[in-house]
Amino acid sequence: MEEVTVIYSSKYGATKRYAEELHRRHPGTLLEIKDYKAKNISGDVVVFFAPIYAFGLLNLSLLERDISRIRDKKVAVFCVGASNYNKKEFRRLYRHHFDGPLKDVPAFYGRGAWQTDKMTRMDKALLRFNYHKIKNKRKTKLQAWEKDFLTIYGKNWDWVDFSYLEDLEEWIRARDPFDE
Ligand SMILES: Cc1cc2nc3c(=O)[nH]c(=O)nc-3n(C[C@H](O)[C@H](O)[C@H](O)COP(=O)(O)O)c2cc1C
Repeated sequence: MEEVTVIYSSKYGATKRYAEELHRRHPGTLLEIKDYKAKNISGDVVVFFAPIYAFGLLNLSLLERDISRIRDKKVAVFCVGASNYNKKEFRRLYRHHFDGPLKDVPAFYGRGAWQTDKMTRMDKALLRFNYHKIKNKRKTKLQAWEKDFLTIYGKNWDWVDFSYLEDLEEWIRARDPFDE
């Protein structure tokens, strides 16, 4: 079985749960981003787990910085967000972030959790601001994420479902055409 290095960032724990589950299923190393150093990566497969915050991917800049040092490995990113999976939206996010050094790095998606009770005051304030901005928009003008946001705002949800890991695992198992 492939040795997989799993590196994750997580603010409220949902992304960590996906990362831990992948690590449980594959031999290799599990690293929180603060303990990660490109030179310490062993094995042939590296998966970065990153939550989506305000359309950005937490700590993706570290992978961008180091990708040239781990190019000899199979590298993928697993993104965790609160919106329902939407191919068009995910493609847009992908085009925006996976450019330059990260071009062609495959990305996968899993739905995380939304824990209003655990959020920091800063996050709550930011979301409150967005909520008031979005709720006055005409329904036909709302983007998919904005629609989801209006439904989940102020509540607690947990959508973590390990079947979201299936496509990633298929990619891990797929033979690299450049391998013997
Ligand atoms: C301030 C804030 C902004 C967020 N922005 C987005 C977003 O743009 N798109 C999205 O799908 N989810 C967004 N989320 C939801 C998180 O991605 C989701 O809660 C995820 O599970 C967080 O992962 P974590 O628990 O590992 O930190 C946001 C959450 C917060 C608190």
